[in-house]
Amino acid sequence: MAAILEARTVERRFPVRRRLFGPPVEVRAVDGVSLAVERGETLAIVGESGCGKSTLARLLVGLLTPSAGQVIFNGQEMAQASAAERRALRRHLQFVFQDPSSSLNPRMTVAALVAEPMRVHGLEHADRHAAVARLLRRVGLRPEHADRYPHEFSGGQRQRIGIARALATRPTVLIGDEPVSALDVSIQAQVINLLEDLKTEFGLTLVVIAHDLSVIRHMADRVAVMYLGRVVETAPVEALFSAPRHPYTEALLAAIPIPAVEARRARVTMAGETPNPITPPDGCRFHPRCPYAVAECHRHTPPLAVTADGRSVACHRATELTLSGLTDTGAVRTPAAERRFALFRAAAAIGPAGPNRGVPT
Ligand SMILES: Nc1ncnc2c1ncn2[C@@H]1O[C@H](COP(=O)(O)OP(=O)(O)O)[C@@H](O)[C@H]1O
Ligand code: SF4
Ligand SMILES: [Mg+2]
Repeated sequence: MAAILEARTVERRFPVRRRLFGPPVEVRAVDGVSLAVERGETLAIVGESGCGKSTLARLLVGLLTPSAGQVIFNGQEMAQASAAERRALRRHLQFVFQDPSSSLNPRMTVAALVAEPMRVHGLEHADRHAAVARLLRRVGLRPEHADRYPHEFSGGQRQRIGIARALATRPTVLIGDEPVSALDVSIQAQVINLLEDLKTEFGLTLVVIAHDLSVIRHMADRVAVMYLGRVVETAPVEALFSAPRHPYTEALLAAIPIPAVEARRARVTMAGETPNPITPPDGCRFHPRCPYAVAECHRHTPPLAVTADGRSVACHRATELTLSGLTDTGAVRTPAAERRFALFRAAAAIGPAGPNRGVPT
């Protein structure tokens, strides 16, 4: 597979003031991330709140420009592109927001909202009205919804409008920043299944940021784990869940609640608070919380090293540690996770992608 979208040592800093009249300091929201998104894959990005996932997602679609480093789409560096070229690139890189309300103009009808990106990108349709109706139907909305306003819809339906808007430019890559985390669990499964069907139908590449590791396990082909502005591990999804190689990944997996009777794997807990991205620790940024830290970890930053099996990990002790993953494929067993898996299974049993799959019932 070839990379369709790539970040090369990308940094993004934001000036902030710690005190009202204090001097400005810099938050290193994304601090030297190199990451390739392969054409046709679903790549998940995980990590604690504040580790830079949203900033990275915005850099990848061109909503933010890097302070340093490059973002390359289909061989073209975005920052080097002319305004016209950048607009053409943006057509191919669409964003699905966590809170669709904030991205939908409340004074525009659904039809106008979905037609807008087509107009902005100069996509001519012999019959734009019919193209909008087709898209709405495809995301599970009914024709009569076209003339209504965003506030008349539920959260799940608003997310469908957001997805229709994102698809209106016929993008190559769709990036979802926690696209379902604001929704009720049963609606989450419907929207995830819709995204997966659309991915197949439109030949999309998906980048999904999600908090919920069961959602990631269900959707992703590959996972990138971020810690304090950096990628610390990437791996195919099952390899990451069953045999993590970075102590932070192990700690994230250990934080998935499981009933005591199943707690056979060693529980590794993370000590301490997430350090501040204004003054990140020296050496390995995870060292103040890492149970395996040795003297070298305090002094030297481990590079993200690629291994022969296509994984990558940034840990000085990666080859000597044997870390615990989840014991079997069904190990995420909180009642909420079980309910979600049951919904996924039920939705999957409906059959291959059809026009009504993912339609709210
Ligand atoms: N526009 C901004 N101005 C100042 N700080 C920001 C801005 N956007 C993000 N940050 C800071 O950058 C860090 C990463 O934020 P973000 O990318 O939103 O993380 P995540 O999505 O993983 O929660 C946080 O410390 C956040 O406070
Ligand atoms: S480099 Fe050291 S501190 Fe960092 S994750 Fe590896 S063992 Fe822990
Ligand atoms: Mg975020």
